[in-house]
Amino acid sequence: MIKISPSILASDFSRLGEEAVDCEKAGADMLHIDVMDGHFVPNITLGAPIVKSLRKCTGLLFDVHLMISDPMKYIPDFAEAGADIITFHIESDCDTKKTVELIKALGVKAGISLKPATPAEKVFEYLPDIDMVLVMTVEPGFGGQSFMENQLSKIKAIREECNKRGLDTDIQVDGGITDITAVSVIDAGANVLVAGSYVFKGDKKTAVSSLKKQK
Ligand code: DX5
Ligand code: ZN
Repeated sequence: MIKISPSILASDFSRLGEEAVDCEKAGADMLHIDVMDGHFVPNITLGAPIVKSLRKCTGLLFDVHLMISDPMKYIPDFAEAGADIITFHIESDCDTKKTVELIKALGVKAGISLKPATPAEKVFEYLPDIDMVLVMTVEPGFGGQSFMENQLSKIKAIREECNKRGLDTDIQVDGGITDITAVSVIDAGANVLVAGSYVFKGDKKTAVSSLKKQK
């Protein structure tokens, strides 16, 4: 089943709670929350207190994407704030195995994300221990960028490795996802689609259902 995770980075932050409720009504499966620290990526977005406030507005799964240099330091705060899935970058300054263990010890699902230049093989040894791999299809840091076609082979390689190991790990894609690019990422093996601009720039229900039917 294809799952849709609208990225609140593209929402109207002055109406964040209502935007989240609208995503739920539009049939989204989860809410993608982009956390940027101005160090791992050049942009700064939001922290755990905002996630905690938002938790009161919706029952949607909170899919927290940490684009921060020191994930270990902040993971407990995001777990406490109500995150259901926490994804961190394999390129950040942390011990990957220990970071996965910390997330799971807090009772939260764990995801590992790869920037466009990071090869698929880097995540293979962690596959048995994680719930999701996030393949970035743009350089992390900003919404509204163009989809990078050259990431399709990475999605395929990770899906093949999961199949080989008998794992039904979620493969999430993030960046430049529209009804057009959704076709090729799903074909390559992705099953969780993050979409920011595409969902928030028009009618959310139409956008979410058009992404879901691309299977
Ligand atoms: C980029 C973020 C994305 C972003 C996607 O660093 O991780 O989640 O919001 O935005 P669109 O869908 O507009 O490319
Ligand atoms: Zn993201």
